[in-house]
Amino acid sequence: MLSARSSMAQSDQATGIQNQKVLGFPNGFLWGTATSSYQVEGAVNADGRGPSIWDRFAHTPGAISDRSNGDTATDHYRRYKEDIRLMKALGAKAYRFSIAWPRVFPQGVGSPNPKGLDFYNRLVDELSANGIEPFATLYHWDLPQALQDRFGGWTSRDTSKAFADYAAHVTARLSDRVKHFFTINECSRLVHLGHGLGADAPGLKLPQSGLNQVRHHVALGHGLAVQAIRAHGRAGTRVGPAENAVSCIPAIETPANIHAAEIATRELNAGYLTVMMEGKYPEAHLARAGNNAPKFTADDLRVISSPIDFVGLNVYTPDHYVVAADNERGFSLAPFPASFPHMKASWLRPGPEAMYWVPRHVAKLWNVKSIYITENGTSASDQPAADGTIYDVDRIMYLRNYLTQLQRATSEGVPVLGYFLWSLMDNFEWSDGYEQRFGIYHVDFDTKRRTPKLSASFYRETIARNAVA
Ligand code: NOJ
Repeated sequence: MLSARSSMAQSDQATGIQNQKVLGFPNGFLWGTATSSYQVEGAVNADGRGPSIWDRFAHTPGAISDRSNGDTATDHYRRYKEDIRLMKALGAKAYRFSIAWPRVFPQGVGSPNPKGLDFYNRLVDELSANGIEPFATLYHWDLPQALQDRFGGWTSRDTSKAFADYAAHVTARLSDRVKHFFTINECSRLVHLGHGLGADAPGLKLPQSGLNQVRHHVALGHGLAVQAIRAHGRAGTRVGPAENAVSCIPAIETPANIHAAEIATRELNAGYLTVMMEGKYPEAHLARAGNNAPKFTADDLRVISSPIDFVGLNVYTPDHYVVAADNERGFSLAPFPASFPHMKASWLRPGPEAMYWVPRHVAKLWNVKSIYITENGTSASDQPAADGTIYDVDRIMYLRNYLTQLQRATSEGVPVLGYFLWSLMDNFEWSDGYEQRFGIYHVDFDTKRRTPKLSASFYRETIARNAVA
């Protein structure tokens, strides 16, 4: 029924004017929402949780723009049942959440804290009882502080190994009900903002050589975790990364520019998806790093490129518009004009075409057969109107445009199986504190009351039609 509708044009009975074609998605397309532990859970001292690098960072004066922290956040830890009802009201069929490593291992390694994992047991059971499929991310940046203190966090490969042990422990206990695990969320942001710019926890500003080594350890952590999940997961457990791949869009869709954008995608993601998929750092990438190149073994590369079942992609901004060029690299990057628009967050330049090109490049370059859009969404000013409703039509515009491009991709056979909207509800937006709201449910951070915005209706309608609303 829905797929038949997707190919039909509808016409307005009174005027006879043809509405645009219904932009339908494949049958069984999985619609979900996403959050992460430190951004929503709160309850930072509950049930034996240890401190994470984000607790330490958020409590550092000057680190968070509104001087807030995730101590209580949205109180998802206690209100998860209510939040699952919100998902149900949308008709969502999947939920991407992350597991807080310091709840499970308060010291990062050593003795597990069963009460910490119990929360995820309760969450997963409640999701299953409501027909919502759990998708668990193992690392969404809340490293146990103990590992930062003891090993220097990701500056040491001991952290990569500890990550694999934690992944094994969790998978052994949850994979009877959780069939999809993401290893690490946005490797590149945790490397650059956390260890290069110092804008995210742990707030380091490492020199280039140190930064390159951190990047390698993060990729190694991903690979070791993939192996641990394979070894400890029940039959049918699937695993992949959730990357914010550098998005390269052909400035004009000519064959030459498209080819140039593919070359750029491979090169600009060299330390992340490229090495995960190919088991090698491209020569040009290593040559450019020179003496600052990371130290690694052939075995590391084999581990990093352990086979995965899907690629998760967080898609927000277009990073580069690419044009073909007669130079050594075969592409050049068009600079962003000062007049390029942005959403409420100044970094959030809308580029809906990214939602078409990123999965298409990934599928083509590395022959990937299963892709999930693990995040997409925007912050907005979200002021209630006189009737109390938040008419977030800017968010709706943004989502509609991105989903239209996603539909273009799926209708051409790009194998995207599902989409997780970021975010179910407003939450702690890292160094922007509570000043950037990404939710389709508004959260009053004093009372923790949740209220649907107009975009929640847009998303509910999209899910019900399995087509862009
Ligand atoms: C990606 C990150 O994974 C998520 O934690 C963050 O809130 C969104 N981007 C919006 O910035």
